[in-house]
Amino acid sequence: MKMRIRELLAGGTPHQDCAVSGWVRSLRASKDVAFLVLNDGSNQAGIQVVAGRDLENFPAVCRIATGSAVMVEGCLLESPAAGQQWELIAKTIQVIGQADETFPLQKKRHSFEYLRSIAHLRPRTNTFGAVFRLRSKLAQAIHRFFAEKNFLYVHTPIITASDCEGAGELFRVTTLDASTTPLIQGRPDFSQDFFGQRTGLTVSGQLEGEMFAMAFSDIYTFGPTFRAENSNTARHASEFWMIEPEMAFADLADDAGLAEEFIRYLCRFALEECSEEMAFFDKHVETGLRERISKVAGSGFARMDYSEAIERLQRSAVPFAYPVEWGLDLQTEHERHLSEQVVGGPVFILNYPKDIKAFYMRQNADGRTVAAMDLLVPKVGEIIGGSQREERLDLLERRMAEMGIDQEPLWWYLDSRRWGSCPHAGFGLGFERLVMYLSGMENIRDVIPFPRTPRHAEF
Ligand code: 4AD
Ligand code: MG
Repeated sequence: MKMRIRELLAGGTPHQDCAVSGWVRSLRASKDVAFLVLNDGSNQAGIQVVAGRDLENFPAVCRIATGSAVMVEGCLLESPAAGQQWELIAKTIQVIGQADETFPLQKKRHSFEYLRSIAHLRPRTNTFGAVFRLRSKLAQAIHRFFAEKNFLYVHTPIITASDCEGAGELFRVTTLDASTTPLIQGRPDFSQDFFGQRTGLTVSGQLEGEMFAMAFSDIYTFGPTFRAENSNTARHASEFWMIEPEMAFADLADDAGLAEEFIRYLCRFALEECSEEMAFFDKHVETGLRERISKVAGSGFARMDYSEAIERLQRSAVPFAYPVEWGLDLQTEHERHLSEQVVGGPVFILNYPKDIKAFYMRQNADGRTVAAMDLLVPKVGEIIGGSQREERLDLLERRMAEMGIDQEPLWWYLDSRRWGSCPHAGFGLGFERLVMYLSGMENIRDVIPFPRTPRHAEF
């Protein structure tokens, strides 16, 4: 019977007549016997295949190169040797696809930098096998979390005319030919473009998500987002995935409550349902990882006002590279100091100055802050950004005018404040930053299959 390696091992009993297919990770051969480690991507360790010299093609089996695709038929028996509980005693081994000694993933360990240059092959390594299995399972856990809470899953558009975050980081979507683009007074005439207006790839599904929260109360989106932000850091990608819940009849405290429950749920999920991968990361990527994640799953998150965070940073003796002053945004070094040194765990920073945040955030009574929240975690820094939204039409319009945001293209957004407006709040969790946080991987390029970053969109 044809099976995946995970299914075969899950039985926990010997098994006659099974067949598995996969790729050879390593091979040790002697005169009478050869041992192959076969991996089909379904588990971390693969399976040890034992080939005896009674196999018809034993000499050929001994020469199978690392990376070859093979199919093995045989029986699963308890392994007499240390190192694995089970082994597959081969009755036949058929080479389906040859590899040769030019296959780049031979035995020795490769640096993550080098593996990035062969992103089409790195899924076949132990580390990236673990990363992408964790990523896949987490995506499913995210849907499960919201389904259990009766949130509606909404697909917000990828092509959009609005720059939600107002940072001007939209990639343009156009069918106009750059060299023949029609101009009006020296500027491109987008009325002649495919959509009859200027469009780009979305930076966030929030604005459309809010419209759905005004009908379904609790919703979330989970999709790709794009930012033409020229920051070449280990935490920024030009294409990344974001989970954005939005709740009607909810305030900032409800928002932080949901974010905390969500993150702790995902920590528990990773430990319990991705235990092989987490054990691998603990051993090979970050010592103590599981203990760190289980502490986060088991204890409440701190909450601190932005103003207090600034005071704490100013009081610390650390020579930060970027200035710390009320009114300035926090940089990664500040975020990490707050979560790693001041709090020693995840911390919500609440109520930021309005001038460093987006137009849609609810204005606080003090006239200078908005009901914003960022969740900062050790190692990664900001993992979540969110806010209570400005539901009062007059204040929203005034704020847009102050910030020079054209109201006309956002007429539909303003409509939601005209009929049945209500307090509402939401946040965005960067999916790659979550995977980094839970795996201990330190570069965003190593948790997304084919990373897009400034000057890099190969594969
Ligand atoms: O803080 P951001 O920009 O918030 C928003 O987009 C809101 N509209 C979300 C909302 O309230 N619905 O982004 C949210 C999160 C960040 O905290 C970070 O985890 C991630 O998205 N993120 C990025 N991840 C990878 N690469 C980038 N360039 C990212 N920019 C933001
Ligand atoms: Mg943010």
